Amino acid sequence: MLSTKGLNLTMLAIPCAKSQQLHDPQATKLIANFDNPGKFQKDCDTVYDDFLNREVVVRHRYFTHFLEQKQDLYEQVLILGVGLDTKPDMLPCLKNKAVYGCDLAVTDIQNIYQATGVHTRTKLVACDLETGMNQQFLTRLQARGFSLTKPTLVLWEGGTFFLPPEAVVHDLSFLNQQLNLVGLLVDYMSSAVFNPPRHEKARRQLELVAKIGFPWKSFFTPAEIKQLEHKLGFTEINVTAHGEIEQRVFGNVKLDKDIVYLNAAFKPAAGTN
Ligand SMILES: C[S@@+](CC[C@H](N)C(=O)[O-])C[C@H]1O[C@@H](n2cnc3c(N)ncnc32)[C@H](O)[C@@H]1O
Repeated sequence: MLSTKGLNLTMLAIPCAKSQQLHDPQATKLIANFDNPGKFQKDCDTVYDDFLNREVVVRHRYFTHFLEQKQDLYEQVLILGVGLDTKPDMLPCLKNKAVYGCDLAVTDIQNIYQATGVHTRTKLVACDLETGMNQQFLTRLQARGFSLTKPTLVLWEGGTFFLPPEAVVHDLSFLNQQLNLVGLLVDYMSSAVFNPPRHEKARRQLELVAKIGFPWKSFFTPAEIKQLEHKLGFTEINVTAHGEIEQRVFGNVKLDKDIVYLNAAFKPAAGTN
């Protein structure tokens, strides 16, 4: 049995939810040998109406839809805060794409893959997204084969809220400037629900994430998301409230409809019209 001691539990919570809710075989293998890998997931779901389970399923469905629909637009994918994301290994539409993933906890991630014997196609590169989105990071990515000129899609799932808003804007602006960015798939915690907390459940959720050492630091409105992406030159922008997809997937809405904003934005590759 592997211990979860010292691990970022939010990272193991995602494969737990994907194993239970989506019967994802890679997620199931990743958690199989851990002692109580679902602890954080259960705590979160208890505090807030099945929040983690529902949120993981909703965002997986939303992002998978756009990864499939736009697969001819991008040649490579960069996943920010990749954690143990199984999409690069499970989605047919990513099978022939080069996939790079960065994270603060790359050593933990590599240790988990090694200890569980699970293989990932994702090329992992260390990066602290709060302070380390810079030329040195791009150099490390390029050393693994990443191209600054190929049409690129950036996926940032379940991660913006761990950073202050200025860092989120900096990272997306920097990547937009340096890469041939054609697609952006991102989710944002809602300002209206959390800043300040709308009710006791929201307050307890903030308390829980602070207690495990990963406080939430940024919250956005749909207007702020659209404004940023217009500024970055995106021509097709979709912002969808969590509840819209929750209704479609689960047949009812248990969480606040606007608890999370799911966002997909696209523009033509550089040099095309
Ligand atoms: C909730 S998990 C989501 C993982 C993955 N994107 C998914 O949806 O399966 C958040 C991830 O963000 C990473 N993270 C948190 N703060 C970070 C930072 N400052 N820089 C880079 N990664 C960070 C964590 O290590 C963790 O892997």
